[in-house]
Amino acid sequence: MEKFIINGPTILHGNVTIAGAKNVALKAIVTSLLTDDEIVLHNMPHIRDVLLMLEVVKSLGANVTIDGNTIRIANGHTKNTIVPLEIGARLRTSSMVLGPMLSRYGSAMIPNPGGCRIGARPIDRHIEGLKLMGATIDYDSKDGYFHAHARHLHGAQISFLKNTHTGTETLILAAVLADGTTVLKNAAEEVEIDDLIALLNAMGAKITRSGNKEITIVGVPKLHGTEYTIMSDRNEEATFAIAALTTKGDITVHHSQRHNMKTFLEAFEKAGGVYNMLDDTTTEYFYDKQIQPVDIVTGIYPGFMTDWQAPWALLMTQAAGISTIHETVFENRFSYVEELRKMGANIAYFDPNVEHPEIFYNFNWKDRIHGTHQGISITGPTKLHNAILSMNDLRAGATVVLAAMVATGQSSVYGVEQIDRGYEHIDTRLQALGASIERIEEDEVV
Ligand code: EPZ
Repeated sequence: MEKFIINGPTILHGNVTIAGAKNVALKAIVTSLLTDDEIVLHNMPHIRDVLLMLEVVKSLGANVTIDGNTIRIANGHTKNTIVPLEIGARLRTSSMVLGPMLSRYGSAMIPNPGGCRIGARPIDRHIEGLKLMGATIDYDSKDGYFHAHARHLHGAQISFLKNTHTGTETLILAAVLADGTTVLKNAAEEVEIDDLIALLNAMGAKITRSGNKEITIVGVPKLHGTEYTIMSDRNEEATFAIAALTTKGDITVHHSQRHNMKTFLEAFEKAGGVYNMLDDTTTEYFYDKQIQPVDIVTGIYPGFMTDWQAPWALLMTQAAGISTIHETVFENRFSYVEELRKMGANIAYFDPNVEHPEIFYNFNWKDRIHGTHQGISITGPTKLHNAILSMNDLRAGATVVLAAMVATGQSSVYGVEQIDRGYEHIDTRLQALGASIERIEEDEVV
């Protein structure tokens, strides 16, 4: 077990290069199953979830070579179509191999990806779409696997009842080799999906965004290998921009995705932050004056991303006044609140007044957990103090690490594996910005 020892307060300043986008990298790895040619992926982040996803495709017979941030995958011979439980159950995106396995080999067994710390996260929308394309998929609670078969996948008209980012991607991955044309309606619009589409089209797929929240995929008989550089990570950039503002510092971000972060930049400026567009892919974020409270409602693209709300809450603890965050995508995404409260933050839960919550919220209303809330109100500014902290999920982890940098004193932060899932070498990059953060092996408690 590792932990971080962090001393604060720290002012962060300097340069950071944003890593490749986790939420593209994981799906790019899945595309290797769609061809027996080699694919070469550049700008791949060194994060735990990428290594886990590589274990998934290796268990299905792929040969993988990692050379810095370049990963080469040759899927010569798929040994089997069963994703091992101990790998698949740890990574939600492992379920996305369903489409490629069904379209190429007619069968697949994947562990139930199950929930994680931010909610139930079922894949019912993925399954319903695959069934419309001719798959039979049954869940066996005895072995914890989804058992999927398809003599061949055929094109279909699929209209998602509610938005789903990876659901949209799962159906794209299933449709590229299917017989005929598939049209996805109410398809997700996150820009990471467009990067995946560009990669698949470079492999010979025929995918277009054919209308408002509509994607058309014309099935082709075969895909070929390619070489592709994935986009950089919007979530990393938002985290570093918030780090600059919260610590009253100044961080210049290279490989910036600001052109895909309009709602974030609007909120950032409303809070009193300043950003300079140094060139097309370089953005400087810095503190200028007292932070102001800004109310946030998270939403699907192009709204304020749910992945940004956790570090944003930390920023709002430093704002002069009361701000609120209304989380509408996941049903349990405030795990960091208790950690910030330990440091003196003044945060209260509330239930926003919503007329038809079963329609309004992006999660399945029946999945909500008794006693959770969709809103928090934050009163600031608060001088945070050190504490013994833990990271319960990826974005909450980044929030807690930043909070320890704002706080006065030395904090211990447990659960480092959570933040390593999605932030490449976060400690060394924060050290380069002036942070006092040390990763140490925690003696196993005997
Ligand atoms: C993706 O999750 C991202 N993960 C998330 O990033 C991101 O927060 C989310 O999209 C929203 O943009 C990856 O791409 C690997 P959804 P995903 O399907 O696809 C419910 C991070 O920190 N739902 O759009 O799982 C679901 O539980 C992660 O990098 C169903 O009920 O999100 C959620 O509440 C966190 N049934 C809501 O809908 C389904 O079949 C939106 O889910 C599918 C989803």
